[in-house]
Amino acid sequence: MHILVTGGAGYIGGITVRTLLDAGHSVAVLDSLIHGHREAVDPRARFIHGDVGDSESVRDALEGCDAVLHCAGLIEVGESQRDPLAYWDANVARPITLLREMQSSGVRALVFSSTAAVYGEPEVVPIPEDAAPKPVSAYGETKLAFEKMIVAAEAASDLRAIRLRYFNVAGAWPDGSLGEAHEPETHIIPRIFSSIAEEDLEFEIYGDDYETADGTCVRDYIHVCDLAQAHRLALERLGGGGTGGVFNLGSGSGFSNLEVVTACGKAAQAAIEVTIGPRRPGDPARLVAQSDRARAELGWTPMRTDLATIVEDAWRWHSS
Ligand SMILES: NC(=O)c1ccc[n+]([C@@H]2O[C@H](COP(=O)([O-])OP(=O)(O)OC[C@H]3O[C@@H](n4cnc5c(N)ncnc54)[C@H](O)[C@@H]3O)[C@@H](O)[C@H]2O)c1
Repeated sequence: MHILVTGGAGYIGGITVRTLLDAGHSVAVLDSLIHGHREAVDPRARFIHGDVGDSESVRDALEGCDAVLHCAGLIEVGESQRDPLAYWDANVARPITLLREMQSSGVRALVFSSTAAVYGEPEVVPIPEDAAPKPVSAYGETKLAFEKMIVAAEAASDLRAIRLRYFNVAGAWPDGSLGEAHEPETHIIPRIFSSIAEEDLEFEIYGDDYETADGTCVRDYIHVCDLAQAHRLALERLGGGGTGGVFNLGSGSGFSNLEVVTACGKAAQAAIEVTIGPRRPGDPARLVAQSDRARAELGWTPMRTDLATIVEDAWRWHSS
């Protein structure tokens, strides 16, 4: 297949582009580089420096494509609360141009990077795909709004779309050559490794009085390479004429913040001193995916599910 990956200079896009190329697909990348890195784009891909809201760049990027993977967007929950309009613009308004240009150039297959943030504070854990979405941040609201737009476009046309709701994405390409480089960084694993690199061995966990085994919050970590394989399978399903739908992508098991800090310390051979700060508002005790649907319907088998592998791969990237 020939696939356009928007946001292919970012963390997840960059790893997925490499995975698609390794599987024999050809790839074009459209990225504004507002947060991505030009050097994260595999040299085998055609790179178009442009915005998903710019018709001319999108038309150029769609040339000869069979499918689109839409990863581009703004991703930071805290920032989305401070500047919601930036998020509605980047995650909803601009990608309408992408949908319109796909329609006029006859590209009818779409995979969309959505998020567990659409669920908000869930009533049932592990969270199934049919749980009622109730986002608690502007980030989650905008990702859900774009999902709804896709569903509406599917109902009104021959578009087929797969919406992938990721849980906590972590890890790096196993040889340490490509990984997570967000600025600012809000994800726990890269933040722990940054403080180790700065020789600051103290790390604060937000709250230890949750109803979990060790009292700290539990999250579902999915290795970015497993995530990339799920994207490949989703794109190939659409390429083979398969139907769209919505799928959670997580490992189905959770690790506590304390377990994550301990595993990172072990991987980096650093004695991290944990301090306990106050709870953050809106942090549920446990967020774990029910992701059987992806396994059953996409034929997806995550391979790098244990915490030690995830953090060791991340450390190889951060320490290089
Ligand atoms: N990282 C996670 O844990 C996580 C979890 C759930 C969902 N997601 C979703 O996955 C996607 C990718 O996340 P990531 O961690 O790789 O983020 P990232 O910031 O590393 O990558 C996003 C890329 O999109 C580009 N971009 C942003 N706005 C653009 C625009 N208007 N036009 C063109 N390019 C634009 C940025 O330059 C960047 O390269 C996002 O849509 C995010 O919502 C990520």
